[in-house]
Amino acid sequence: MKASRCFSMSLFLLIVLISFPWPNSANSHVNDFLDCLHSFHPKDTVSISKVIYTHNNASYSSVLNSTIQNLRFSTPTTPKPLVIVAPLTTSHIQATIHCSRIHGFQIRIRSGGHDFEGLSYVSRVPFIILDMFNLRTVDIDVEKKVAWVQSGAIQGEFYYELAKMSRTLAFPAGICHTVGIGGYLSGGGYGLLLRKYGIADDNVIDAVIIDVKGRILNRKSMGEDLFWAIRGGGGGSFGVVLSWKLKLVSVPETVTVYNIRKTLEQNLTEFVHQWQYVAPKLPGDVFSVVSMRKVNQNGKQTILASFSSSFLGKPNELIPLMKARFPELGLKKEDCIEMSWVESLLFFGQIRNESIEVLLDRSYKSPLSGPSFKSKLDYVKNPIPESGLKKIWPKLLEEDAETAVMAFVAYGGKMDEVPESSTAFPHRKGNLFHIAYTVGWNGEENVKSQRYMNWIRNFYSFMGEFASKSPREAYVGYRDNDIGTNDKDTSYGKARVWGRKYFKNNFDKLVHVKMMIDPHNFFKHEQSIPSSFTGIQEKGVIITGGRF
Ligand SMILES: Cc1cc2nc3c(=O)[nH]c(=O)nc-3n(C[C@H](O)[C@H](O)[C@H](O)COP(=O)(O)OP(=O)(O)OC[C@H]3O[C@@H](n4cnc5c(N)ncnc54)[C@H](O)[C@@H]3O)c2cc1C
Ligand SMILES: *[C@@H]1O[C@H](CO)[C@@H](O)[C@H](O)[C@H]1NC(C)=O
Ligand SMILES: *[C@@H]1O[C@H](CO)[C@@H](O)[C@H](O)[C@H]1NC(C)=O
Ligand SMILES: *[C@@H]1O[C@H](CO)[C@@H](O)[C@H](O)[C@H]1NC(C)=O
Ligand SMILES: *[C@@H]1O[C@H](CO)[C@@H](O)[C@H](O)[C@H]1NC(C)=O
Repeated sequence: MKASRCFSMSLFLLIVLISFPWPNSANSHVNDFLDCLHSFHPKDTVSISKVIYTHNNASYSSVLNSTIQNLRFSTPTTPKPLVIVAPLTTSHIQATIHCSRIHGFQIRIRSGGHDFEGLSYVSRVPFIILDMFNLRTVDIDVEKKVAWVQSGAIQGEFYYELAKMSRTLAFPAGICHTVGIGGYLSGGGYGLLLRKYGIADDNVIDAVIIDVKGRILNRKSMGEDLFWAIRGGGGGSFGVVLSWKLKLVSVPETVTVYNIRKTLEQNLTEFVHQWQYVAPKLPGDVFSVVSMRKVNQNGKQTILASFSSSFLGKPNELIPLMKARFPELGLKKEDCIEMSWVESLLFFGQIRNESIEVLLDRSYKSPLSGPSFKSKLDYVKNPIPESGLKKIWPKLLEEDAETAVMAFVAYGGKMDEVPESSTAFPHRKGNLFHIAYTVGWNGEENVKSQRYMNWIRNFYSFMGEFASKSPREAYVGYRDNDIGTNDKDTSYGKARVWGRKYFKNNFDKLVHVKMMIDPHNFFKHEQSIPSSFTGIQEKGVIITGGRF
């Protein structure tokens, strides 16, 4: 009782502070900040003034907009950065960190701008965007099968360079090519190769990070704990990751993909039910996803499920395999399309009839999400019974579900072999699949968008019955600011709630690493790793430091 009143009191104070900000001295502060940037390293090879955008620069707004992926966070009332710095050199990054610290501004690090909650470019306190788009070199060594990729590259730029050099080298990254390397690798990163080679972070072998003191650290100098934390601990907590050394993996010259569709009238329920038993146990060479949504067919509303796979091999191997494991699906030669691995990315990105140059298009708008959207993600450990599926369909048929998509992505394979503590990303053995939920709409915030938001929140709460429990696990790469807000007892810290859900037992180690590398919590946002255990302990459990 006491705790909760105390909580409401601090909430009250917070609201007062938000509505009556400090006197408007931000401008003079900004000038001091700019002076600081200019004097940080005046002899730098590239003058920092070339990469500073304030409200007075004509291109400020277009630079700000350039990688905003979710228009929910691009409204007239969305807080805007005081300054955008788009570094060309490491000293530009050091200057931005140093000057933001001494002038009391928060920084938001942006690579590809796909954060689901806009945390890479929106803050409620005066802030600077450190925008990485100029730092996007991709350096591939085909012989050694490694690549150094800078955080500001989008995945497509990496895939494109890779495809130019080899048809049989790949990397286990995502489907949507505009996603930034920096944020993607910070969260873990699932994609078409997860059942064969694990998540992207399982294939990161070195990295360069710039910490709060401006030190430039690689794997050796940062130490194994920090190197562990930046692989899956979520972006924006530990420092600015400049580049990543990635282990390339082998794929055959041609892969096989298919997409088979079923509706409710075509016994969809039985297929989806069966899929849950089959897909997670298929060989690692098969990636398997079912996506479900409401469609209008012959004037009648129904659910359409697309069963899609990519297979690292030929149709004459895949067809007998599927015939043995999932005969009901009836996979035939005509369903199979052969293509290069990189073309399979376009296939899953629903990009048709485009040459692979489209991978270089940073402003390409993925059909997989609306201009504005809200997404959530669940992990599933037990198959959903047919009776459960039959309860789900009416929800997906609701009026406000018109743009909703629910996708089951099979785990198993390599995902079962990597221990939970191997990287900060913990969602491994025991998960049959994850469910990604998305609703999208066309830009403007209005009554309709609120209805979509309400729909996905209600649907997520309904799906709790089928999802992982204690905790109901979540993926930090699918950032969701709702997590923790509805928890019954948040008096001892929302961070405890999302921390356990995103990271399970890895959360404690993440806090320890944070305490070590950024003890004053300079790198922070709504869901950054806290720099102390105060307020986030389990009730009655004292977690002591110095465990490793
Ligand atoms: C259309 C779409 C498709 C997606 N598909 C997939 C998918 O297939 N698989 C998957 O795993 N995820 C997927 N995601 C989620 C995606 O991986 C995350 O949103 C990821 O964080 C985006 O990276 P970014 O660099 O584009 O984002 P940003 O918004 O730039 O960054 C995300 C977070 O990381 C921080 N950050 C960014 N760069 C750095 C850096 N250099 N150093 C330190 N911190 C940094 C930011 O501050 C922010 O907190 C998808 C997202 C979208 C919108
Ligand atoms: C922004 O404007 C300032 C002042 O006119 C100028 O010095 C700076 O070079 C401009 N920034 C860019 C990126 O052009
Ligand atoms: C940036 O986006 C906002 C909001 O969508 C819009 O009002 C503004 O005109 C855009 N600016 C540019 C230069 O496109
Ligand atoms: C659906 O299942 C029923 C009962 O098992 C069967 O009779 C029917 O032919 C199936 N329909 C389709 C389209 O497969
Ligand atoms: C792609 O191009 C082919 C041949 O030009 C055409 O038949 C097909 O319909 C196109 N597909 C899509 C999805 O546009």
